[in-house]
Amino acid sequence: MKENYKVGIIGATGMVGQRFITLLYDHPWYTIEVLAASPRSAGKKYSDAVSSKWAMDIEIPSSVASMTVMDAAADIEKIASMVDFVFCAVDMKKDEIKALEEAYAKAECPVISNNSAHRHTPDVPMIIPELNPEHAEIINAQKKRLGTKKGFIAVKSNCSIQSYVPALHPLKEYGVTKCLVTTYQAISGAGKTFETWPEMMDNLIPYIGGEEEKSEIEPLKIWGKIEGDKIVDADTPSITTQCLRVPVSNGHFAAVFVSFEKKPAIDEIKKAWKEFSGIPQQLKLPHAPKQFLNYFEENDRPQAKLDRDLEGGMAISIGRLRPDTQYDYKFVCLSHNTLRGAAGGGVLMAELLTAQGYMD
Ligand SMILES: NC(=O)c1ccc[n+]([C@@H]2O[C@H](COP(=O)([O-])OP(=O)(O)OC[C@H]3O[C@@H](n4cnc5c(N)ncnc54)[C@H](OP(=O)(O)O)[C@@H]3O)[C@@H](O)[C@H]2O)c1
Repeated sequence: MKENYKVGIIGATGMVGQRFITLLYDHPWYTIEVLAASPRSAGKKYSDAVSSKWAMDIEIPSSVASMTVMDAAADIEKIASMVDFVFCAVDMKKDEIKALEEAYAKAECPVISNNSAHRHTPDVPMIIPELNPEHAEIINAQKKRLGTKKGFIAVKSNCSIQSYVPALHPLKEYGVTKCLVTTYQAISGAGKTFETWPEMMDNLIPYIGGEEEKSEIEPLKIWGKIEGDKIVDADTPSITTQCLRVPVSNGHFAAVFVSFEKKPAIDEIKKAWKEFSGIPQQLKLPHAPKQFLNYFEENDRPQAKLDRDLEGGMAISIGRLRPDTQYDYKFVCLSHNTLRGAAGGGVLMAELLTAQGYMD
């Protein structure tokens, strides 16, 4: 591992891109070298490009405010020559994102992606660092396909699954057979604030395009296995979801009903959550929460406002575990959707891959 890595943020003016800036401007391993976005922002000073849409709760860091925004698509070769790897979170058509990310990878610039475009490409790992770090091994097969030495794409899963999949993961030894999940998702997940989406005040919208499909399918890739040159999805559990948009600024909730082959006792479930940790904790990666899964005994916890920022927004909060009349158990869980669920999850994945030597 080198002492310092130069990084670029593609989609730096967006909601997730802004979060990347707040997590990276004082990062112990990384220096922000490039900010890039659409031709609408390219050529502008960063602070001018985001003047009306900076949505973070800190000022724009002075080290990036005066940087000139580059053109994410037109400047690929130049950007690739300036950085060790890029983070990517852009709002474009799926096929355009696929092509953009592959172009960076082929320019020998690894891509840590928050976009959904490549989540189902069989040799692109979708990594939740505590759960399936071993999927990074598929990168070698991907590089062979792309014909690259260093360039590859690794993706983050959708923010909606970030609370309940970590909670179910340590319970897999009991054979999770089926689960029913309803998510209650914050407006920042749509790249919005109450200022930019006033219709969401005192409101609930029972539809988030594409979210239910992602929430049902993506966990099966996370729990899949590498077979040859691809990741093969797991067959179980069967998952059904409903995803609702709710008037909360940050923090995605999930209400989970779950059944098992060998039903564990309540205390065994709480113990499994308390004792669970992964490679990020062992390696003490800069953005790894010390305690990943946190169970609250109080009936009215976790709450979005009180608990979403636990461990810098990188921990998962769980509560209200109790028996159910139709499933074995039910519980609720919460994760910060733009931290653990988006930029923070991307940064932690980058830290894992850096520690494993993939960025050198
Ligand atoms: N928000 C979340 O919690 C969340 C969670 C997980 C994943 N994601 C994913 O992350 C991505 C970005 O989401 P967001 O909420 O940050 O969106 P956003 O706030 O709308 O930002 C979109 C970004 O994409 C850039 N962009 C748009 N068209 C472009 C083009 N033709 N070429 C280059 N850059 C272009 C924009 O640049 P300009 O400012 O110049 O237009 C902006 O920087 C999406 O794929 C989303 O699904 C979001």
